[in-house]
Amino acid sequence: MRIVFIGPPGAGKGTQCARLTGFLGIPHLSTGEILRVAKQNETPLGRVVGPIMDSGELVSDDLMMGVISERLAHADCRDGYLLDGFPRTVPQAEALCVWIQATGQRLDHVIELRVDKDELRNRLSMRFRNLSNPRADDRPELIIQRLLVYQMETKPLVNFYAARDGLLKTINGIGTMDDVFHRILVAIGLEKPAR
Ligand code: AP5
Ligand code: MG
Repeated sequence: MRIVFIGPPGAGKGTQCARLTGFLGIPHLSTGEILRVAKQNETPLGRVVGPIMDSGELVSDDLMMGVISERLAHADCRDGYLLDGFPRTVPQAEALCVWIQATGQRLDHVIELRVDKDELRNRLSMRFRNLSNPRADDRPELIIQRLLVYQMETKPLVNFYAARDGLLKTINGIGTMDDVFHRILVAIGLEKPAR
């Protein structure tokens, strides 16, 4: 199964993918995590993307296509994957379509996690306060910037995927992590709705 997760910063993409990867037995590909590891290890990629991530902006589409196509070519992605944080712009989504078609595969689901801004700000500020080594982009002023970038650059993907029959599933991302996980399983046809 090939699933794309879309949602603003703090929507729970990483949290839900971390659960789903074990459930489905397919890899969880988080572009944010790939970039954070590169940054931490001070690789050439990490040195380029570090300042961009720390300003709440997006890394260029060209660079991201290089990162993700290299990862998708690994053998563990043959039978499916969960994409968390990619695509994030319309050009990235178009490039992913081309890549998937060229490999004779198809996307099964696009999950949009919807959470209101107040809840997003609460979740990210709480994470910033609670972690001993907090994410630089969880600083309050950067949360606002990341939310803006989401509205401008990533939200248009909802219409992009809504135009493709049956692909987009919009999920209420508020509630317990178990509730949200259950909603996702229902949306992808693996569980029945709770009565
Ligand atoms: P990325 O790492 O993708 O960050 P993000 O999407 O901005 O935000 P998060 O990872 O914080 O959100 P999430 O939805 O995963 O939520 P989480 O599960 O962590 O990207 C970082 C940066 O990398 C970008 O800004 C950009 O610079 C660059 N980048 C990455 N991909 C790129 C691309 N394709 N193109 C260009 N640039 C790219 O949850 C958040 C918090 O909420 C946690 O503390 C969690 O415990 C909590 N939580 C989760 N679910 C619930 C719940 N149901 N109830 C209460 N709390 C919850
Ligand atoms: Mg994440």
